[in-house]
Amino acid sequence: MFDRVDHVGIAVEDLERAIAFYERTFGVTCSHRERVDEQGVEEAMFKVGESWIQLLQPTGPDTPVGKFLARKGEGVHHVGYGVADLVEALAHLKAEGVPLIDEAPRRGSRGAQVAFVHPKGVGGVLVELVQE
Ligand code: CO
Repeated sequence: MFDRVDHVGIAVEDLERAIAFYERTFGVTCSHRERVDEQGVEEAMFKVGESWIQLLQPTGPDTPVGKFLARKGEGVHHVGYGVADLVEALAHLKAEGVPLIDEAPRRGSRGAQVAFVHPKGVGGVLVELVQE
């Protein structure tokens, strides 16, 4: 079902500071910035080979990433996996009894279609399915 690791989503308190740290320390370049209001995040993307690092700063405390930061602090928030057919992937997971956060695709960054799978069905890992 997965055709690549699309991105690793990392929750940060201060996006500008985190971008500067990643660029200086890891020699990666931020090539995409976007605010996704539906998900309550301001994000920065760094291309690494076929995959991305996605830094996420919440737009407020009452957002999924805002609540994550309050509960756990900064760190890995989710893993995004590429799929060729998101609707088919969701139907497959539903048939397998895996709990879904999104029953249907929604808009993600870079014009992609995305859906989140509940971490309680994936050993504690919040999974995002991405169809470009
Ligand atoms: Co993501």
